[in-house]
Amino acid sequence: MPISVQSITLTLNDRRLIDDLSCTIKSAGISIIMGPNGAGKSLFMRCLHGLAIPDSGAILYADKPLNPSIRKQQSLVFQTPTILRRTVLANLLFVARQRGIDDPAISGEYLRQLRLDHLAHHPARLLSGGEKQRLALARALITKPTLLFLDEATSNLDPASIETIEINLQSVSKRGTKIILVTHDVGQAKRLADDVLFLHHGKLIEHSKAATFFKNPKSAAARAYLAGKLVL
Ligand SMILES: Nc1ncnc2c1ncn2[C@@H]1O[C@H](COP(=O)(O)OP(=O)(O)OP(=O)(O)O)[C@@H](O)[C@H]1O
Ligand SMILES: [Mg+2]
Repeated sequence: MPISVQSITLTLNDRRLIDDLSCTIKSAGISIIMGPNGAGKSLFMRCLHGLAIPDSGAILYADKPLNPSIRKQQSLVFQTPTILRRTVLANLLFVARQRGIDDPAISGEYLRQLRLDHLAHHPARLLSGGEKQRLALARALITKPTLLFLDEATSNLDPASIETIEINLQSVSKRGTKIILVTHDVGQAKRLADDVLFLHHGKLIEHSKAATFFKNPKSAAARAYLAGKLVL
């Protein structure tokens, strides 16, 4: 379902962290949020998922405000996932059972897709950073979300882990899951994005199709960011 963001603002400790932000995010494809550190990307994503509440404006999912049943169809993966103190497979089974999926074979299939099957019976807490992030994605995907948020979920991963995750994202996106992803990895954004939202100082500076954004960014801030310059 399309998301209509209507003039939201968020002020915390007297700082306007999201500043009159409006956009429409289509219900299909991969939308990528970019922008310098502190731009408000994570806060914006938290607003979309209902973890932060704007002081004014509205966020509508197909004309409805976020409600528990819409939220249940969403999944969010952070850069540092919370892992339960049990095996890799048990981590996945726990989430699957909460969603009424009781077939261990399905969990096994997701472990294979994320190249974790050889670690199924290892304690999940002992996984490496990249393995934990792949497990976090497996947990998110097994719920078959209609909307998947990823906040720098592939930062600090090796190229093979990034590729595994990107292949999985492209495949679920093709099957209809909407993806909204925050990344600083320009290469990843070019590989995955259908459209790019560029934030700076809490404002949406630019929202363009990916080809336009990377070839011909409209704003000076986006041009500087893409050129690897300090954006102040
Ligand atoms: N709970 C909070 N209370 C007060 N200020 C906050 C809070 N969360 C974030 N901020 C501030 O809001 C601004 C935007 O933060 P946010 O985490 O959204 O940035 P970001 O674009 O995700 O940056 P990064 O690329 O570093 O992850 C920052 O200046 C941050 O200090
Ligand atoms: Mg962030």
